[in-house]
Amino acid sequence: MTVDRRAVLAGGAALLAGLEWSETTSANPTAAQFPRGFLWGAATAGHQVEGNNTNSDTWFLEHLQPSAFKEPSGDACNSLELWRQDLDLAKTLGLNTYRFSIEWARIEPAPGEYSVAMLDHYRTMIEGCRERGLAPMVTFNHFTCPRWFSAQGGWLNATASDVFARYCERAARHLAAGIAVATTLNEPNLMRLLRSLGLPPALLNAQRAMLQAAATSSGTAKFVAANAANAEDIDSMMTGLLAAHRAGRGAIKSVRPELPVGMSLALVDDQAGGPDSLRDAKRSELYGEWLEVAKADDFLGVQNYERARWTNTGRLPPPPGATLNWSGAEIYAPSLAGAVRYAHAASGLPIIVTEHGVGTEDDSVRAALIPAALIELKKAMDEGIPVRGYMHWSLLDNFEWVFGYGPKFGLCSVDRTTFVRKPKPSAAVLARIARHNAV
Ligand code: BGC
Repeated sequence: MTVDRRAVLAGGAALLAGLEWSETTSANPTAAQFPRGFLWGAATAGHQVEGNNTNSDTWFLEHLQPSAFKEPSGDACNSLELWRQDLDLAKTLGLNTYRFSIEWARIEPAPGEYSVAMLDHYRTMIEGCRERGLAPMVTFNHFTCPRWFSAQGGWLNATASDVFARYCERAARHLAAGIAVATTLNEPNLMRLLRSLGLPPALLNAQRAMLQAAATSSGTAKFVAANAANAEDIDSMMTGLLAAHRAGRGAIKSVRPELPVGMSLALVDDQAGGPDSLRDAKRSELYGEWLEVAKADDFLGVQNYERARWTNTGRLPPPPGATLNWSGAEIYAPSLAGAVRYAHAASGLPIIVTEHGVGTEDDSVRAALIPAALIELKKAMDEGIPVRGYMHWSLLDNFEWVFGYGPKFGLCSVDRTTFVRKPKPSAAVLARIARHNAV
């Protein structure tokens, strides 16, 4: 195995400083060989896999009448209990990194009231990663918030960034010593991206009715969740999230200054689809402020699933004959490298691919996409772009938010009643690449 375990276990700034980076020679001269110490991982998020996140805003929204959620998350993959199996799977696949999130709603079930038992739980998970040679990449907030937080207006509330920083500081005091890489927020730009790409009106109406019911039932003026907000609230929410990232980063750094901290952005590979393209305007609307604030971070997390070709009036449909994902969007393997090139050019930061994958029932599509996208990513690295790792979304088929358990993103399937995990053929494809550190 060519992955440098020392670099992984060092778990600190050296991971990102490029100190351990040097090309190794491959047994196969035509293979795209990744640098020593490259982080190979799979990603999950607490609410989507743990199950019974009953104190969260999202659990509450799932159970409202009316709700925009197709079904409730229920037991999810029961990873709150079965997380050891998840780590064993990641290890078996030859990965050296596991990206997961800690659930704020479990850690701070009431304002200012922290659960030592839940902090201990996450500390045991972090130790479990280390024991298996997996670098723990920990997201402090992957969309879900405590119900009490969102009932107070969520990220629109003027105190939101202070409240988030307090939680980050408390969690970091318990956990930061073992973490290899930390991210504050997952895809804080998502709502703006979705607004721009255009969601079906029926879904937007259902969401509006659900948020109204949530506010009424909570006895508050506004209920706002990170991945469920009405169009008119999205810009103010971005302001709150930008402040929260800054404050959260400061709080984590105050506990352990050398811990690499960043955030994950949802980044489409935006391309010009004709003269006077809207592309640059879209880029500045969707990522501009975020890339500015990220400049003070240690790295930028890139999450890419597709490309968008912009004309002077809007987005082009997928080209004829394109392979489509579960939602009808084009699957385009070079989109990851395109998004990474832009993210680095605009921020100057080292990049970690914190999510990339595809929602499809046909695992052979995933198995083909992984090497095809990684070959393109390696070309971008050969141009000089510092990419430190690749996390596939997701380790497991899991709860895909409003769409419930329909869309399948996992390298492994999960039986909905026995919770038995079963690697799909695509998992072997990623495993082979990770083990050889080469495509
Ligand atoms: C999110 C995940 C989600 C995935 C697939 C990302 O936007 O971070 O929570 O499941 O994409 O849609």
